Amino acid sequence: MKPIGPLPPAFAGQSRLTIGGEDFADLLAQAGDTPAFLYDGAAIAARVARLRAALPDGVGVHYAIKANPHGDVLAAIAPIVDGLDVASGGELAKALTVKPAAAISFAGPGKRDDELEQAIAAGATLHVESEGEADRALAIGDRLGLTPRIAVRVNPDFELRGSGMRMGGRASPFGIDAVRVPALVRRLVAVGADWHGFHIFAGSQTLDTGAIIEAQAATLALAGRLADEAGAVPAFVNLGGGFGIPYFAGDTPVDVEAVGAALGEALAGRAAALADTGFAVELGRWLVGEAGVYCTRVVDVKQSGGETFVVVDGGLHHQLAASGNFGTVVRRNYPVAVAERMDGEPVITASVVGCLCTPLDRLADRVALPAVAVGDTIALFQAGAYGATASPSAFLGHPPAREWFIPGKR
Ligand SMILES: Cc1ncc(COP(=O)(O)O)c(C=O)c1O
Repeated sequence: MKPIGPLPPAFAGQSRLTIGGEDFADLLAQAGDTPAFLYDGAAIAARVARLRAALPDGVGVHYAIKANPHGDVLAAIAPIVDGLDVASGGELAKALTVKPAAAISFAGPGKRDDELEQAIAAGATLHVESEGEADRALAIGDRLGLTPRIAVRVNPDFELRGSGMRMGGRASPFGIDAVRVPALVRRLVAVGADWHGFHIFAGSQTLDTGAIIEAQAATLALAGRLADEAGAVPAFVNLGGGFGIPYFAGDTPVDVEAVGAALGEALAGRAAALADTGFAVELGRWLVGEAGVYCTRVVDVKQSGGETFVVVDGGLHHQLAASGNFGTVVRRNYPVAVAERMDGEPVITASVVGCLCTPLDRLADRVALPAVAVGDTIALFQAGAYGATASPSAFLGHPPAREWFIPGKR
């Protein structure tokens, strides 16, 4: 038997799964059927409110929509955050339906000319990832008769410790190596670009509170140093994020209140060049991950080689991350439960497998479960981020998962 990750606090102690105060079966009926992602709008709003309360005054909250770009999620979160971060022309188009361009930033390597043009024409901030991209943006601005708003994404000379996805301290396709940044900023200012500041994103998915505090302090110090070396004052510094959520046994949550308090101290001692600079953190997963549950129905329970397999109508084509094939080195189990019997006594050890013809399609590996029958519902938690849009949904031609947003009471 292998352990499962911790149930998010909102679901611990339930006897039958409810999400946002509603029974899962009612929600699935509203959504249409399984497989479905159910998103709790009230949980997302509570998360934003908690982060805002923890952060020092004046530090904005930006949402990286790659974590969950579902239309209802975007419509709910856009009015309560200060900015949206996008990573493609497609995400930009979605973001523009819910937020003014001035509050949208476009980061990510490999922006095509037509995407740069889309951002410049709309007036979004480009986070340039190379000198070449900056040159292309300037040329497109010239052609359009517009001044592009450009922030420089810095590949920092440090990394976010404990991060599942490191984006600093090494050779990287993301951002411009810190040593080369002052020269580019000087050039942008000299040619009259609307240079907006720095974007310093050191990594993603860390649960180490101390590492986040350390990275934020290092980010502020780096921004101050780069501003001095460039001889230019940044209007804005995006401090990145990297706050993780607990997926696996033994994981513990980030202490965001401690992060906020430490950021307040770091900001109080910031370099003179940053005295009038605006700041924001940029988070995806932490804001929406815990608010989502992926529900999939049991279509078969079978025995093979002395093991029990619970076969469900969903799989890794919807929720790749739970199968361990999205950036994890060692496969471990996400939190999982039988929705009808959340508090059922574990009586079997079984693997939950999806409907795809690949042994990779294993959503839970040899976990303890209550008795499971055909027709029961398996709930996989921590499914609100990097689920539906980060999974190979075209694989084998199965239908996409439904996605259902629970607005909650306002
Ligand atoms: C530039 C940038 N911003 C934001 C994010 C979102 O990270 P997370 O969802 O872990 O908060 C990422 C993740 O890769 C990123 O690359």
